[in-house]
Formats: sequence, C-alpha cells, structure tokens
Amino acid sequence: MLERAKALADSITQSKEIHIVTHIDADGIAAGAVALQSLQRQGKECSIEFIKQLDELVLERLQNENYELVWFTDLGSSISKNTPALKKIITDHHICPNGADAPFHLNPHLFNRDGAYDISGAGTAYLVAQSLDKKNVDLSSLAIVGACGDLQDRKFCKLHGTNRDILADGKKAGVLHYKTDLRYFGKETRPLHKLLQYASDPLLPGLTGREDACMSFLNTLHIRIKDGDLWRRWIDLTNSERQQITSGIAHLLLTKGFGHRLTTRLIGETYTLPQEKSGTELHDAKEFATLLNSTARYGQHDVGLHVCLGNRDEWLKKARNLLRGHRHNLVEGIQFAKEEGIEKRQYVQFFHAGTGIRDTIVGIIANMLLNEEETSNSLPLIGFAETETGEIKASARGTQLLIDKGLNLSVAMKKAAKAVGGVGGGHNIAAGATLPKGKEEEFLNLLEKEIQSQFSC
Ligand code: C5P
Ligand code: C5P
Ligand code: ZN
Repeated sequence: MLERAKALADSITQSKEIHIVTHIDADGIAAGAVALQSLQRQGKECSIEFIKQLDELVLERLQNENYELVWFTDLGSSISKNTPALKKIITDHHICPNGADAPFHLNPHLFNRDGAYDISGAGTAYLVAQSLDKKNVDLSSLAIVGACGDLQDRKFCKLHGTNRDILADGKKAGVLHYKTDLRYFGKETRPLHKLLQYASDPLLPGLTGREDACMSFLNTLHIRIKDGDLWRRWIDLTNSERQQITSGIAHLLLTKGFGHRLTTRLIGETYTLPQEKSGTELHDAKEFATLLNSTARYGQHDVGLHVCLGNRDEWLKKARNLLRGHRHNLVEGIQFAKEEGIEKRQYVQFFHAGTGIRDTIVGIIANMLLNEEETSNSLPLIGFAETETGEIKASARGTQLLIDKGLNLSVAMKKAAKAVGGVGGGHNIAAGATLPKGKEEEFLNLLEKEIQSQFSC
C-alpha cells in the first residue's frame, strides 16, 4: 500500500492543479481535508467538491471540466477502470469490482485488507499525504476521525490493521492519544444520564431510551449527576466513579442474560485529539466525526471542512448548530421509522420512510434501529427514503454475526440495484444504493435471492 501511495504522490508532484472529489460523510470530509491540506502545503492549486455518489452525470461533468488531475477520496473505486480520458488518482476503501486494480488506485481490498475495518477513506488519503511529505504526520488525527466516523472500531472494539500504524504515527507526533475506556458516545460533551440514555452498542436493558431510568440508575450508584448548575459528564468523574458505573452496567447486562461477549463490548479503545480543547466535540474522535456528519449530510460541507482545516470560532459555532439539528433529526427519524413499522421478510427486514427521513441520514438511522432492543438483529435492515430528485435511496446495515455467516451487503445491494436500473455498493456490513421509484419490491426480491445464496455458500 505504501508503494502504491508513493506512485499516487508522484502523480501529484507532477501536476500543478488538482481537483479533489470526496464523499458527503464524516470520513469523506476528513479524507478531503487531508488531501486538501497536503496539496496546499505543496503549494498546488487545488479545489474540492463533495458528492453523494459517483454517477454518470458527475463523471460526465468532471470530464468536461478538464482538470489536469482529479483526486477521488472515500469514493472512486467503482470507476477505476472507466473513463480513461479522466486523469485521476483514487484513495478509497469500498469493495471494488474485479479488475479494478490500477497504478493510480489505492484501496485496501487490492492488498488483502478489509476496508470495513483496516483503513478508511481518510486513512488511504493520509498514506498519500505521508508519501508527499513526512511533515503531514499531523494529519493522522483526521485519518482516525474518518475511521471512527465509519465505525471501524466496531468489529474488535478497537482500531485494527493499517489504522494501528496511523495511530502510532499520531501518538508519536502528539496529535493522538488512545486508552481503554467506556466505548459509549458522548463522554466529552453529554450529561452522564444522556450518555446512558443513548447507549446503543451494547444497548442497556431498561435504560437505553429512558431518561428518568438513567437518572435513577446513577442515583442508586450514588453518583452525583450535577455540580451546582452544571450536568456532570464522563470526563468530570473520578476514576473510582467511572469504575463504579462500568461495574454497575456490566452487572445489569449480565443479570439480564446478555452474556459475557456482549458485556465486554462496554470497554474498548477510545481515541482523543490532545491538541483540541478537552470537553469539546473535537477532543474525542467519535464526537468529532458526528460533528462532521452533521454538516455535509445537510449540504453544509464547507462548515465541516473548515473545522477540519483548523478554522474554528465562526465555523465551529455553525457546526454546533448543525449538530443540534442532526441530533433532533436522528431522534425524529427513529420515531418516524418505528411508526411506519419495520416489515420482516425471510432474508431481510425493511422500513420505507418515503420523504419522512432525509436520504443522507437514513443509513445512520438504520444502523441505530438495528441496535435497538425491539428490532431483530437476525436479519439485515434496509431503510428506504425518497431523494429530492424523486429517486429511492436504500441503506442496508448488518451485524458482525451475519457477516460471519456469509452476508456481503455490498455485493447484494450492487447486484440488486443494477438489475432494477440503479447503482449500489459499499462494505460487507454497510452498503447503499439508489434506484428508480416504484422498483422497491422488485429490488427487495432480488436482494433476498442474493442474500439467500450468500448464506448457503
Ligand atoms: O462511504 P463510507 O465508507 O465512508 O460510509 C461508511 C458508512 O458505513 C457509515 O455510515 C458507517 O456508519 C457504515 N459502516 C458501518 N460499519 C463498518 C463500516 C462502515 O456501519 N464496519
Ligand atoms: O449511504 P449509506 O450510508 O447507506 O452508505 C453505506 C456505504 O455504502 C457507504 O460506504 C457508501 O459510500 C456506500 N455506497 C456505495 N454506493 C451507493 C450508495 C452507498 O458504495 N450507491
Ligand atoms: Zn469511508
């Protein structure tokens, strides 16, 4: 991978003007920011754009725009062999079609690594940035934010593969810290009871989703939830208070029959950016990633990008406003999907949100729902939502157990979408597709057939 990264860096060195095309999620913004900073530091003329997906229309436009070099980050593997006229380099981590290997294409799947957990889009962009100039080592923090945004720590409760080399770089450069701690989201900014209320991996029986129950639980453990007028957060606790809560939660899970394997998921490696202010969303890599998701998924990519580039004050304020909206939309979206109802079929379950949920966040909602107590986790979950242009976005999410049984959502979504005139792809555990409206039933039938055959292989 390093040799390939070097070849991509050489293409950059030989070009004067480079256009970056990246994806609209946290990893996409982080990847774009890594690419942009590395180019700016080389004194290159550069521009950046954010897209939902790489379709024919985008490709045609890019060809007409005649860039000297286009750098695709967190996407692009699907077109590696197309459009030979477009001079490009690709740093991506999605499953790629056979024959996608090319001298300008860096993707872990081409090197026997898995893009679902070994390295993210931001990570692959970082490898090129490092090849350009070792001084870019500070960008390792953004590479880890990207990996956390893509939930790459999910499989092993810590980052794995090439991500660990990037972590080591970051630690040495003083831009990353990691330690073993509670894995729940929001340790820097959320009041304690909210941290428990939104706990999802593992979810907390009787507590997840119930604010009052979370407060009483903390009360029973004799944990003060306020300091004067201020809510206490995880980072405000003493070590012994943290231990007390962790033991209390572990006890709760075990006595409710959740088993040792699930209970151990409470604790894992957590990642912080020591150069950011403690108690802010930017100090914790997972919270940073959520802040980024709150921007680009709502068309406000410049906000997330500026925050990544270190432009704070005004931009951070804007990002925090967007974050409030994003949290609200997630809570409403989950409620909406539940009201619409999750329909179970033999090999998949699905909900159709119509225009009730933004197509850009339906995947996050599907993931959260799949982790809920009342949702079955023995079937992959597909969320449908209508896009602004009247097409249907489908987001599919699975579990590690289903992957171990042979599920590959990327392959299944791609095949089923293609057969109904759409496009799809992604990772084995999380994939997406866009299809023409009205084709959902046909798509589900094809998807089920494909998944059935994956399980019987
Ligand atoms: O396009 P990209 O790979 O950056 O998008 C990743 C999406 O897939 C995110 O929504 C992330 O939550 C999901 N994902 C996941 N589990 C993984 C890898 C990705 O849920 N192991
Ligand atoms: O959009 P969503 O979050 O559901 O996407 C899940 C994963 O599938 C992401 O990694 C995304 O980049 C990928 N995807 C894709 N092709 C599509 C839609 C999504 O590769 N048409
Ligand atoms: Zn990604």
